[in-house]
Amino acid sequence: MNDMRFNTYSMLSTEERLKLFYITKNVKLLSSDCILEYGVFFGGSLEPLSKGLFCNIKYNQHEIIGIDSFSASKDGSFYTTVLERANIINIKEKSHISEIHVDWFEFVKEELIQFDNIKLVKGLPSTYVLENTKTIAILHLDMPKFYTELSEILHNIINNLRHDSFIIFQDYFYHWSAEIIAFGYYLIKNEIIILIDTCRTSLYANNISMSSDILTYFDDKINDSNFIINLLIEASKYFENKVNHEQIASLYMAITQYSFLKNDMNTFNKFSLLIDKVSQGNQYLSDRISWMNIELKEYNYDIYSNYIKNFDDINNKTC
Ligand SMILES: C[S@@+](CC[C@H](N)C(=O)[O-])C[C@H]1O[C@@H](n2cnc3c(N)ncnc32)[C@H](O)[C@@H]1O
Repeated sequence: MNDMRFNTYSMLSTEERLKLFYITKNVKLLSSDCILEYGVFFGGSLEPLSKGLFCNIKYNQHEIIGIDSFSASKDGSFYTTVLERANIINIKEKSHISEIHVDWFEFVKEELIQFDNIKLVKGLPSTYVLENTKTIAILHLDMPKFYTELSEILHNIINNLRHDSFIIFQDYFYHWSAEIIAFGYYLIKNEIIILIDTCRTSLYANNISMSSDILTYFDDKINDSNFIINLLIEASKYFENKVNHEQIASLYMAITQYSFLKNDMNTFNKFSLLIDKVSQGNQYLSDRISWMNIELKEYNYDIYSNYIKNFDDINNKTC
């Protein structure tokens, strides 16, 4: 398993990339299937998806579609992240950096040129729609950080999801993902999706019966903070014996982020104490928790102030 080499820079761990490779290699492919990824960055998760697909015995020109802005506004914090990562792999000169944004589309196109089953789509994810004859074998969600963003994406492709489509929520076990955690858990609790596995920040599930009605129901509920906090608390109990301490700490962190924002200080205090408990005697976890805490406080626990300015410059463009 560890012989597989990946060459493209990724924000994912090697373990997560290997999982993507094996899921794609082994997925039951229909002739109408494609693989959809939201959140390409430099292409590091498309590489294992593409390599896995080539190894799938049913592979026959199936397409992988990767959607991303490939561009970040200087007003948001992601701009600095892109420049830092570009620096690490020495590709700064291949990115287009201006006074208002950084754009790395040309770099990714060149980087992935050898993978002729990959199609890149540059633009606003919420407007992307698939032909209605296409079905989705694997949906890799490595972009939406709050529910409204996720819901817009899912509404557009809901009829392309099939029974057993793989849905991968990257950054599920993440301190900014409270709304996504609540939604994902709601789907698991109601057997709309089935939990298959978790790895690092990722959650892997199979679709059973996701529908527009379910999305519409949750669209109506997303501003009901009591409903969301109850789901988050239930989720933390549900995952308690299923995931590792790092994942649990991220869940607790997300609960503190959301409850602070919604002014539920009882829940905030309760989960702040639990976070301290989970990290006791574990230096790695304590350091990670400190980092998450610093980030949450930097943005006053507000995910919108953290994310919303990053992709302003693509707001007028469509896929
Ligand atoms: C976590 S990174 C993806 C990491 C990538 N899968 C990897 O393997 O390294 C998230 C990506 O989503 C894109 N993104 C996030 N929010 C977006 C939005 N609202 N519109 C367009 N692109 C967005 C960013 O440009 C970024 O490349």
